[in-house]
Amino acid sequence: MDGRDLVRSVKAVGSGGAALGLRTVRAAWRRRRTDATGLPRRGAERARVPGPVEGAEPGPGGGVVRFARSELRIMVAVNGAVFWGWDGAGPEPSYALAGGSPEPDPRAVLEPDKDGGWRVVAERVTVVVSRHGAIEVCTPGGVTLRRDLPPRWWEPADGGGARWMQRSEVMPDARFFGLGGRATGPRLRDGTYRLWNTDPGEPFVPGDDPLYITMPVQMVVADAATHLAFYDSSWDGTVTLREGGEGAGSGHDRAGTCEVRLDGGPLRCWVMVGTPARVLLVWASLTGAPALPPAWALGHHHARWGFGTEQEVRRIVAGYQERGLPLDAVHLDIDHYDGHRVFTVDQDRFPKLPVLAEELRRDGIRLVSIVDPAVKAQPGDTVYDSGNAEDAFVRDASGRVVEGVVWPGKAVYPDFTHARVRQWWGGLYEERLAQGFAGFWHDMNEPVSFTAFGENTLPRSARHALEGHGGDHREAHNVYALCMARAAYEGLRELAPEERPFLFSRSGWAGMQRYGGTWSGDVATGWPGLRASLSLVMGLGLCGVPYSGPDVGGFDGSPSPELYLRWFQLASYLPLFRTHASLRAGRREPWEFGDDVLEHARVALAERRRLLPYFVTLAHLARRTGAPYVRPLWWGTPEDRALRDCEDAFLLGDSLLVAPVLDPGADRRAVLLPRGRWYDTATEEAYQGPGQVLIDAPLARIPVLARAGAVLPVLGEDGGLELEAWAPARGRSGGGLVVPDAGDGWDEPEIERYVTRWKGKRVVVRRDGDDGRSEPLYPVRIRGLDRR
Ligand code: NOJ
Repeated sequence: MDGRDLVRSVKAVGSGGAALGLRTVRAAWRRRRTDATGLPRRGAERARVPGPVEGAEPGPGGGVVRFARSELRIMVAVNGAVFWGWDGAGPEPSYALAGGSPEPDPRAVLEPDKDGGWRVVAERVTVVVSRHGAIEVCTPGGVTLRRDLPPRWWEPADGGGARWMQRSEVMPDARFFGLGGRATGPRLRDGTYRLWNTDPGEPFVPGDDPLYITMPVQMVVADAATHLAFYDSSWDGTVTLREGGEGAGSGHDRAGTCEVRLDGGPLRCWVMVGTPARVLLVWASLTGAPALPPAWALGHHHARWGFGTEQEVRRIVAGYQERGLPLDAVHLDIDHYDGHRVFTVDQDRFPKLPVLAEELRRDGIRLVSIVDPAVKAQPGDTVYDSGNAEDAFVRDASGRVVEGVVWPGKAVYPDFTHARVRQWWGGLYEERLAQGFAGFWHDMNEPVSFTAFGENTLPRSARHALEGHGGDHREAHNVYALCMARAAYEGLRELAPEERPFLFSRSGWAGMQRYGGTWSGDVATGWPGLRASLSLVMGLGLCGVPYSGPDVGGFDGSPSPELYLRWFQLASYLPLFRTHASLRAGRREPWEFGDDVLEHARVALAERRRLLPYFVTLAHLARRTGAPYVRPLWWGTPEDRALRDCEDAFLLGDSLLVAPVLDPGADRRAVLLPRGRWYDTATEEAYQGPGQVLIDAPLARIPVLARAGAVLPVLGEDGGLELEAWAPARGRSGGGLVVPDAGDGWDEPEIERYVTRWKGKRVVVRRDGDDGRSEPLYPVRIRGLDRR
């Protein structure tokens, strides 16, 4: 939303415009006062370093190395991930880990290294600790991928938690990715990135930072190997990145650097090494397999802030149906609430919501509900009353319930870091299920309060249970939305055990994928916003969150027909394909932009529908391997430096390369190809990679290329599953995986493997199974044959 929207909205919900400014100022003062009394004062601090090594004790998977002023715990886990923690920090408790810490690898042992240091040698990685506490992560071949210098910390003289600073060096050729959802990127350029989930308050553009999802997760890609480093602390902090450089013959190499500063929490780190695929596999085994969206959630969604009435919803749905345009889900925003109160329905404007939901479901369209965490502070409101009875709301240090202002006006916030509160909140979704909603869209859960200037969230001194150990908002803020997602996910599993929950959340943290996905928040309408929306999807995928997508057309204003269409075309190849916009934005229905746009959007929608089985397969593969659907071009060849810097195209699974049009006026574009043969899927023209080619991109389509030899499942004209196989290059073979849709329940269908190869003058496709090779289970269509 833009600033004016916000002011208008607060005015609308508050008690009159003139009072707003004053009220907000007072609130900011109040907050500052609350923090002043509610937070311990930081007195004098001493800067510390670990000092010289004094000894070591081997333990499972590694051991403990003792320094004069700290100790370092190291453990290599069975999944190959390396953990280390300073000052006695262990892997738990952690909001990121899915099932606690993995077991230590019994084969990894701590042994003395040269110069008084220590090392742990494991199968895929060697960790070397110097006698002053520097930690090197090396490949088995001895190449140092990351060097964490001895950490520094500032210790309050009169006790209390330390603030840590960790400086690291990476290979000169390395590139940084990740850190959650960043609008610039996916390659993270030199600069400082903040770790504090934030609603920017206005539609964002590249350069706006931080946004709704921040994570201390970096994927670092270098010629020697890829690694992922996760500094597991939920506290506010910053990460300053500086790419390195190679000496180009005469000069010295300059290492890339990364400096993590944390305002609190432990200094502990997980590192995973290998190929990008392996790194994300280990990351998913550590933080949880991505939730599997139901097949309908892989179709087209239409949302709108301001549908306003049931009639309007029906009008939009009819618009799709009359024009024969596929639609799979409609999202209701806060305007369907009664007085903007969560878990309510305005009975005047939506008198028969369950009936509407049932009718839509019969037509194959699901209803999705927005769910905001803030509860109107109003006795008589059922959620407020039951929350009070449960003692569910966040309090300040003096024990008073903390109040903020959000859409319903004065509001209170459930403390999702308490198991009892999560249980209560999860139960509230029963009302939503009874209204007929099939999916949930968590919003405003950074969490937002409009009352404070600068930081529109809860006071830092607000108290949270933090699973019993107790703490304040400085520690709980970044995991607030993660815990809200957990509450909903677990509640839905109890309420509707037969169905996989579908939820996506604006804010979140490391591990959020186990509950659902996200979308890219309020992206500004404009060409830079279009580009940013791709950055977010790619960056989040590299942090283990594979399901996301933008607001097609941007959140505010009115896109030109061309911009709308290019956004629509891009999103039709992203996991979440959703049209959405703000209350006062222009229309976003495909028929509102003229006949040409409508026809081109129809093609995009039809192709999305045809590719649905491929999306279902990618969703299953993401669940089983952690691999995102949308992958950077370097996914399979991270050593290809040109690909590493390519940010305007992506691989969709193993088989397709999508090159969206991100600039106005383009009717063709340059596409960088990874090695191998690629077919333009529109013309079947074959191109040879690696290299750059120019490909037509008329308004009617964006370039999509298929990898030679690929086999992908698609819907045939009769609606049945069909295999589309792309001819391998002569003398080569290829293949693909298929995971058939097994409905909205918990069945885990088997992965089917198909191989393609030349047999004389024909290309044949066979199913690869235990019993050798057999005929495919579905009809096969071979493409690219004429272009050998
Ligand atoms: C902010 C969200 O980002 C946006 O998608 C939504 O429409 C508004 N809140 C209103 O609920």
